[in-house]
Amino acid sequence: RNILVLISGNGSNLQALIDASLNGELPAKISWVISSSSTAYGLERASNASIPTAIHELKNYYKDIPKSDKKARSDARKKFNLDLVNLILNDKKNGKPDLIVCAGWMLILSPDFLAPLEKAKIPIINLHPSLPGKFDGINAIERSYKAGQEGEIDEGGCMIHKVIQEVDAGEPLVVKKINVVKGESLESWENRIHQLEHVAIVEGTIKALQELI
Ligand code: GRF
Repeated sequence: RNILVLISGNGSNLQALIDASLNGELPAKISWVISSSSTAYGLERASNASIPTAIHELKNYYKDIPKSDKKARSDARKKFNLDLVNLILNDKKNGKPDLIVCAGWMLILSPDFLAPLEKAKIPIINLHPSLPGKFDGINAIERSYKAGQEGEIDEGGCMIHKVIQEVDAGEPLVVKKINVVKGESLESWENRIHQLEHVAIVEGTIKALQELI
């Protein structure tokens, strides 16, 4: 089985998948890594594991469009998504992925990206650092931290879910929880969530592979 991993940053979750693939826990090969940032440390992690990489940056599509030109930026975003899905589907080198894993991918995948993959029957899963239905979107860890310290919630965590058009709202495959500790630092809260992520991302990928026909 071939897995394509999408990243944007540090790639600690990619690393968890690489380690699990190398030690046999994950019955699949990470055949390709695509990053939305040319400076993502995850690219180093992939290269160190001899995994082919590609870079697909939104800023290259925005480069000469003023922030105020909403229409042009929306068209650029559409092209970014279309080019990305064509890059994936037309690739001859790395083999058609059986599964796409978004591991720290920080951009919304639009219907332009999702529809062709749905047609090609390539499932996509995403790691999101909050519990289902809570704190979707960006800065989930900071937002859940504040809510915990203010007594609004008594638990947090992360989930692996199937990617659908609504952001961070697909059916959860894996949910991992932590309890709020009053007076805990944001850094400690974040570290506890990241540790859960590294377990959840492997479990969720294995589960998604098992669901493949
Ligand atoms: C993680 O919290 C992930 O959920 C979020 O980005 C953070 C860093 O992930 N999307 P990684 O270290 O790049 O895998």
